Amino acid sequence: TTVYVPRDSAARSVGADAVADRLRERLGPDVRIVRTGSRGMLWLEPLVEVDAGEGRVAYGPVTPADVDGLVDAGLTTGGDHPLRHGAPEELPWLRDQQRITFARVGVVDPLSLDDHRAHGGLAGLERALTMSPAEVVAEVTASGLRGRGGAGFPAGIKWQTVLDAPGAVKYVACNADEGDSGTFADRMLMEGDPFTLIEGMAIAAYATGAHEGYVYLRSEYPAAAATFRTAVDLAYAGGLLGASVLGSGHAFDLHLRMGAGAYICGEETSMLESLEGKRGEIRAKPPIPALKGLFGKPTVVNNVLTLGTVPMILAHGGAAYAELGVGRSRGTQVFQLAGNVAQGGIVETAFGVTLRELVEGWGGGTASGRPVRAVQVGGPLGAYLPVEQLDLPMDYEAFAEVGAMVGHGGIVVFDDTVDMAAQARFAMEFCAEESCGKCTPCRVGSVRGVEVIDRIVAGTDRDANLVVLEDLCEVMTDGSLCAMGGLTPMPVRSALRHFPDDFHRTPTGEY
Ligand code: NAI
Repeated sequence: TTVYVPRDSAARSVGADAVADRLRERLGPDVRIVRTGSRGMLWLEPLVEVDAGEGRVAYGPVTPADVDGLVDAGLTTGGDHPLRHGAPEELPWLRDQQRITFARVGVVDPLSLDDHRAHGGLAGLERALTMSPAEVVAEVTASGLRGRGGAGFPAGIKWQTVLDAPGAVKYVACNADEGDSGTFADRMLMEGDPFTLIEGMAIAAYATGAHEGYVYLRSEYPAAAATFRTAVDLAYAGGLLGASVLGSGHAFDLHLRMGAGAYICGEETSMLESLEGKRGEIRAKPPIPALKGLFGKPTVVNNVLTLGTVPMILAHGGAAYAELGVGRSRGTQVFQLAGNVAQGGIVETAFGVTLRELVEGWGGGTASGRPVRAVQVGGPLGAYLPVEQLDLPMDYEAFAEVGAMVGHGGIVVFDDTVDMAAQARFAMEFCAEESCGKCTPCRVGSVRGVEVIDRIVAGTDRDANLVVLEDLCEVMTDGSLCAMGGLTPMPVRSALRHFPDDFHRTPTGEY
């Protein structure tokens, strides 16, 4: 019998370590306890799974105080108990997903290369190494995979640019500076299936002629750092990294670098500056990093989820991945349900799923039980969507058409107590706090934005100030050097457009 207890940060934050300790005390040394990633059903954490030889049975949420009762009820043989959910894969929440990038998260031992291989790992890298670099790039292009960090640029085209760029020194840089509010998929992949990211980076390196890679991880993720560091050591020991990747003769070294808490370092050029040991400030583009990136060399910069999806694409073929999705949004997106939502967590499913299916279906509505009023998609720089737009399909182009963005797939739910003028103000405040200061529209515009919204809400020259705010948004959108200042108007404008009444408070605080 094997008992699985997540070691994911989210599970640990609700007591998974204490549950594992208590299980160890009660079950003794003969029962194997494996610490896994999380299945992503966060309201059921800590979710304990047991495999007595006939597939897994899940129990949750388990507290240390539940352990005695569970063991007495026959936990190790899948015994009945009020916390028993049966086979986890059969729970509708999981069963109705299409897990590709997250296929192994919550299932495997994240720090066992054998387990990785036993669950289909390394098949993608092994196949890639039998192909020419150009063929690997073509496979990624055929998959339709677009940058999962948020911008959705076609990964294959980016890789082709790096492959074609002249020069012997090239880099792969993985952006793991997951700073968006309501997002946690990068972290969960790195904690739950780090070899997939390492494998994806090795494939990217082989495909583009790079011999060195960097993962830039935010300092707020110490557990992911610890897991990933160990995984890199194991990957070296297992021949997955080093002088000859899986005996191919292609050398690839991988380094982990920690950020220091700046949101802007998730922007690719600031990240590159930071990796070079400099202050995290935007570089003007062009030149694009694919041509002149880390230390001035051609560099693949991709998000964790983009690189983490590549092994599956190589293992099963680009065409199979491209069969999923809608329009130019192919494959799956790893959506992250957060905020005021009853059932938060990871929902990986094909593009085309509607926001309503995610928020009301998987999410089960608000945690407060009050009506949903707004949903912010794509992080703090994403638009607020009203309930009238919940039937919008998750699709980069459909979102862009209504002035919104899919972004990194974070979905934050708000109930009817939300004050949308306060949310709009927060967007400007956030930008003022996080701006790198290099360009004026972002650095100064955001400060002015807070002031103008305050005046509007206070009722001071409201009509004139609404025009000023609109002008300011236009300047920030068109004049900022990067997406930080350029996208801050998106939540502001969406709040103004869909929730105008919230901006019409009287000076006494009434609407
Ligand atoms: P972008 O559209 O300027 O670039 C996207 C990517 O494509 C970049 O890597 C760029 O270098 C590359 N690229 C562009 N043209 C290219 C070409 N011709 N050949 C090769 N590569 C090319 O967008 P940007 O500013 O990098 O990202 C903005 C997005 O970031 C937003 O849409 C937002 O969703 C997302 N974001 C994500 C956050 C997170 O925590 N994941 C935080 C904040 C924003």
